Amino acid sequence: MRFVRLLLYTAWLTASHVQAAAVFAHFIVGNVPTWGLPDWKHDIRLATKAHIDAFALNMAYGWYANEDTLALAFQAAEQENFQLFFLLISLIKRYSSSSAYFQHKGGPFVSTFEGPGNAGDWNNIKAQRGCFFVPDWSSLGAIPAADATDGVVDGLFNWASWPWGNKNMTTFIDASYLQTLNETGKPYMMPVSPWFYTNMPGYDKNWLWRDDDTWYQRWQQIWYLQPEFVQIISW
Ligand SMILES: *[C@@H]1O[C@H](CO)[C@@H](O)[C@H](O)[C@H]1NC(C)=O
Ligand SMILES: *[C@@H]1O[C@H](CO)[C@@H](O)[C@H](O)[C@H]1NC(C)=O
Repeated sequence: MRFVRLLLYTAWLTASHVQAAAVFAHFIVGNVPTWGLPDWKHDIRLATKAHIDAFALNMAYGWYANEDTLALAFQAAEQENFQLFFLLISLIKRYSSSSAYFQHKGGPFVSTFEGPGNAGDWNNIKAQRGCFFVPDWSSLGAIPAADATDGVVDGLFNWASWPWGNKNMTTFIDASYLQTLNETGKPYMMPVSPWFYTNMPGYDKNWLWRDDDTWYQRWQQIWYLQPEFVQIISW
């Protein structure tokens, strides 16, 4: 049985159009200002065991603990041969040359959470930093996001990974990205998440999205669609 599975896996790899498939986990840096080096190393080892390739570090611009936290994160990642990348451009110059910074097609990989209003800045930023830019501009939808600023993106991420109401999660939105990006040969980063809940009265946000078997179903969908990148929301 194991052998058959190995054969099937090999056949899948051979048939796959994917060149450099990688799985990332979204990581909210603001949750861990108290972490020391051993904490970072512990979680990085867990992520490595789960075959996660990198943490997508979500940091708030100007947050007081960014510097100290990133210094530890990169120290741990370098020691553990793990990779990290940013959802923020302001600190990239300092860290993109680290052996732990995730690179793709010769440039440091960068994503964002929303921010399509700044799409016009990215031609300049890319010219200066040479980064591989895969934002989440879900609020625009696949086609406008792909077309923004004459197609400045190098690929797209999408945040829609939870079913609404009592429905099951479908791949309709993923398909819109795959089809749109396929025309220009750019990679899609597909989201997967076990569940979602938010309660932030200050932002008037208080809801829960159904989980149940979403995690399982979503991985089946990923396996079927074989996007180049997957991002787990969240670590
Ligand atoms: C959702 O999927 C489960 C199986 O995983 C199935 O039993 C259920 O009927 C589905 N629900 C809907 C609304 O399609
Ligand atoms: C992408 O385009 C190729 C040919 O242009 C086609 O064979 C393939 O099915 C397309 N994939 C998707 C997901 O649309």
